[in-house]
Amino acid sequence: MRYIGKETSRVDGVAKVTGKARYVAEFPVKNPAYGFIVTSEIAKGSIKSINTEMAMKAAGVLKVYTHQNATKSQAKGNAYTALQSPKIAFSNQPIALVVAETYEQARYAASLVKAEYNKEKPQTDTLEANKVATNKVTRRTPNTRGNTQTGLTNSDVKIEAEYTIPIEHHNPMEMHGAIAFWEGDKLMMFDKSQGVYGVRGHLAQSFGIPAENVKVVSLFVGGAFGASLKPNYYPFMTAMAARDLKRPVKINYTRRQMFQGHGYRPFTYQKIQMGATKDGKLQAVVHESVGNTASYENFQENSSGFGRTLYKVPNYDSKYNLVKTDLPTPVWMRAPGAVSGAFAIESAIDELAYKLKIDPLEMRKINYAEKDPETGKPYSSKELMKCFDVGAKTFGWKKRKLEPRSNKDGNWLVGMGCGIGTWGAWQAPAGAKVTLRADGTVHIGSATADIGPGTYTTMTMIASEFLGIKPNQVKFELGKTEFPRAPSQGGSITTASVGSAIYGASMNIRKKLFDMALKIENSPFIERRVEDTELMNGMLRLKNDSSKSVSVAELLKKNNMTEIVETYQAMPSKERANYTTMGHGIQFAEVKVDEDLGIVKVTKVIEATACGRVINPLTAHSQEMGGMIWGIGMALHEHTEIDHRYGRMMTTNFADYHIPSNADVGYINTEFVEEEDKIVNPLGVKGMGELCLVGAPAAIANAIFNATGKRIRDLPITPDKLI
Ligand code: MOS
Repeated sequence: MRYIGKETSRVDGVAKVTGKARYVAEFPVKNPAYGFIVTSEIAKGSIKSINTEMAMKAAGVLKVYTHQNATKSQAKGNAYTALQSPKIAFSNQPIALVVAETYEQARYAASLVKAEYNKEKPQTDTLEANKVATNKVTRRTPNTRGNTQTGLTNSDVKIEAEYTIPIEHHNPMEMHGAIAFWEGDKLMMFDKSQGVYGVRGHLAQSFGIPAENVKVVSLFVGGAFGASLKPNYYPFMTAMAARDLKRPVKINYTRRQMFQGHGYRPFTYQKIQMGATKDGKLQAVVHESVGNTASYENFQENSSGFGRTLYKVPNYDSKYNLVKTDLPTPVWMRAPGAVSGAFAIESAIDELAYKLKIDPLEMRKINYAEKDPETGKPYSSKELMKCFDVGAKTFGWKKRKLEPRSNKDGNWLVGMGCGIGTWGAWQAPAGAKVTLRADGTVHIGSATADIGPGTYTTMTMIASEFLGIKPNQVKFELGKTEFPRAPSQGGSITTASVGSAIYGASMNIRKKLFDMALKIENSPFIERRVEDTELMNGMLRLKNDSSKSVSVAELLKKNNMTEIVETYQAMPSKERANYTTMGHGIQFAEVKVDEDLGIVKVTKVIEATACGRVINPLTAHSQEMGGMIWGIGMALHEHTEIDHRYGRMMTTNFADYHIPSNADVGYINTEFVEEEDKIVNPLGVKGMGELCLVGAPAAIANAIFNATGKRIRDLPITPDKLI
C-alpha cells in the first residue's frame, strides 16, 4: 500500500485554518434577511395568545411568523415541526420566528414577542414519570437468552446495582445554521448537516414538492456528534420565510440555543444483576434500562442491548423501558446507547471482580467471547484479546494493586481501572461518481459528509491507492445533493460505505481500461486477467512485471475519450450475514483523587483498539483521543441540569455546562491492533469514531473505586459524591 495506512495530513487542513473552507452560515448570498427564533417559556400547555405587534414595529423587522400565519407543513411522522399549532410540548419550543434586515434587529425584536399560555404541569423527571404506567413503553428486544433465574441461582457471587446517567448535550463548535432561497419553485438550502439527502427529503415532503426541486449543500461541518443527524426544525422555518419574503433568509443559533435546539443523550437509569461462579465465569446478566423520550415521538437507544454480544454469558435478559416526558426528543449522541450501557455493564463486572478478588482484566479474559454469544456466529475479526495485552503493557497495568486505597501519592489516592467498548462495524448502501481524466487527474463526488473525522482525506487516499495517482491529483467533493446518494455520516459507517463505493468504482475503471488495452495491437495483457494488473502513475501495468504497461492517456486517446466516468453503488455483501462484524477496544484509566476534597484528576488514559484496517493513522489517532477526552467529560463533568418545577433545562451555556479542557487531560495515548478482515467490506475497515468513547467512563469510574474504595454509580462523578 502506498497511501493507505500512512499518516496523512488533512487535505482540507489549509482551507480550514485560512478560513477558505465555507461553513454554512458563511455562504455569500445577495441581500439576506436574518431570522431569530422565539421560544416557549413553559414546558407544557398551549399558547393562549401571542402578541407580535411590538416586534413588528421594531426597526428593520420584515415579518413575524407564529402558528397563526406560518406555512402548514406536509411532513409526515411524529418529528416536531415548528409553528404548526398552539400546543406546547417542551420548554423552549419555538413559538415565533422574527425576520429582520439584520441579525441584531431580529434578535432584539424577538425579545418583544409576548405570549400568554394555558399552563399545564410538566413532568420531566424520568424516574417520576416511570412510576406512571401510562407513560411507559416497554420494549424487550430481543428475547431472553437462556434462563436468568437459573443462572443467578447457580452463581456463587452476585451483585445488584443501579446506575444513572444524566441528560448530556452535544456541544460542537459550529452552531446550527441555515441559509435558504428560492428560484421559482426550486429551493436552495445550505444547512449544517450530517446528511444532505435526509434534509432534502424532509424539505421536499414539508413543502409538498418533488425532491429534485430541492438542492442541499453542506460542505464543512464544525462538529456534530449526532446533533445534526436528523433534519432539525430550523431548515423548514428558514425555507418557509425565504419563500414568503422572496429573498434569502439566514438563521444561525446562539450557543444557548444549541442546548435547546436539538436532541441530547437521554437520561438513563440502569439496574444490573450479575452473577458468576467462584472461578469468575459469568452465569447470568439481567440488565434493565429506563430511558426518557418526548411526549410526541419515541426515540430510543439500545443501552441495555449493548452487553449481549460482549461476554460469554449463557443467560441474559435486557429490558428497555421508554418513558414519555415533557422534554424535547432525545437523539443520538456519540456512541448512543453503547456508552450508557457500557458504563453500567463495565462497572458491574468490575464490582463482581472485586467481590471475587479476581483482577478485573483477568475477569474479562475469563469471560471472553470467541464467538458471538447471542447468535453463535463467528466474528469476522476480533483482536480484543490482543488489545488487552497491548493496552495493559502500554498502560502499566501490572503496577496496579487490587486492594482499594492501597496506592498513595502524597495526599492523592491513586487508582487504575479499565473498561471494554464495542461498536458495530456496519456498512450502508453508498454511491460515488468517479471521473478519471486523460490528464491524470480524478474527480470524485459523493453526498456524504465530513463532520470532523477526516473523510475528505481518507476518501482521497483510497482513490489515490486504487487509481495509482498522487493525492494532489484527486479532488474529492461531498455534501451536495447533486452527487450520488450516500448515508448520513453517523454510526461510524462512512469509510466502510463510501470508501467501498470509491474502491468499487476504481476497480470498474481498471476493468474498462483493461478491456481497451486487450484490443490494442501486441497487447501486453494477452492471456492475463484484470486482477493481475494495477493502475500506477498514469499506466495500467502488470503487478508482477511493471515493464508490461500501457499508458492510460493513450488508451483514452485511441478510443476518442477524454475521461472515464464511473458511478458505483456499493452494497454490503451477502457474506457479512454469516458473521458478526464489530470493532472492539479497551480503555485504561489512572486517576488521582484528593482524599480530603474529592477532586479527581485523570492522570493517564490509554486505549487499544481493533477496528480492522486503519486508513489514516493520523486522523484516526485524533478521533480516538477525542473520544477518550469525551469519556473524561462524561465521567466527571457533563450534566444538563433540569429544573423539574418548570421542565426547563438550566445549564445552557459553557459556564454552567462543564466539559473537559486541556488541563483536565493528563497523559493520553491510543494504539491500534490492526485486523485483516476480508468479510466486513472490501477495504477491511471498521468504524472507530464512537468506539473510543464506549469503555472510557466506566474505566474512570472503576479507577476511582480502585483509588478510594467508593463506588459511584451516578454520573458525573463530582467531588461532592466522593467526600
Ligand atoms: Mo453519531 S451519534 O453516529 O453522529
